[in-house]
Amino acid sequence: MKKKLVILSGAGISAESGVATFRDSGGLWEGHDVMEVASPEGWRKNPALVLDFYNKRRRQLFEVQPNKAHFIAAELEKDFDVTIITQNVDDLHERAGSTNVIHLHGELLKARSVYNTLDIIDFTGDITLGDLHTDGYQLRPHIVWFGEAVPAIEDAIPVVEQADYIIVIGTSLQVYPAAGLTDFAKRTTPIFYIDPKPAGIPNMKNPLEVFPLKASEGMEIVAGRLRNI
Ligand code: APR
Repeated sequence: MKKKLVILSGAGISAESGVATFRDSGGLWEGHDVMEVASPEGWRKNPALVLDFYNKRRRQLFEVQPNKAHFIAAELEKDFDVTIITQNVDDLHERAGSTNVIHLHGELLKARSVYNTLDIIDFTGDITLGDLHTDGYQLRPHIVWFGEAVPAIEDAIPVVEQADYIIVIGTSLQVYPAAGLTDFAKRTTPIFYIDPKPAGIPNMKNPLEVFPLKASEGMEIVAGRLRNI
């Protein structure tokens, strides 16, 4: 039976594809205060701005491609039972070929109504004020904003509990509950942390190896290491 590999990814894995990370840009996200565009308060204050912001992010997604790190993650399925747990809202893991992806913070290519968090639909175009879901309520991006619940964490925790190996890649590990996921791993599960500026060191009780490298370089080394274990 294949060993279980969990890859916990953040914005840094998509950086080489040309998608900006959040905290590398001095608290601004594509020129905006994060709370302005990614919080329920921001939405209440200026929904048109929030929709416009995510419309731009969604359009940008069609201009970028998965990079080597995404492809290596997908190829690891040949040798491992891989689950990607990503904080990213892009679909670059899926486009690289990964078949088992949990999106903790939602997906840019999905939308839902402001009323019902569970009625999620595929959405590739722009959302504008006045676009309604079938329930008659305004559509909003299917994105988990700051202060909102993270329902997918319930799917992620048991996967981490059963992991034989964990790769943490391209995340500053500043945002919970994602940053606390490694606490659920067995104490013997090795953790490989790939990040050029590895700020948040995951659970120190586990065997930990840090690779202060870009995602593509780090993934190449760690994938080679895992195949030889
Ligand atoms: N390769 C790998 N990692 C990189 C690269 C790269 N080429 N470039 C930057 N990084 C690293 C940075 O060093 C940083 O540690 O990626 C990390 C990005 O951190 P954040 O911007 O904080 O992104 P992330 O951890 O995914 O943020 C978590 O915060 O804003 C919210 O909901 C949003 O999902 C997001 C969450």
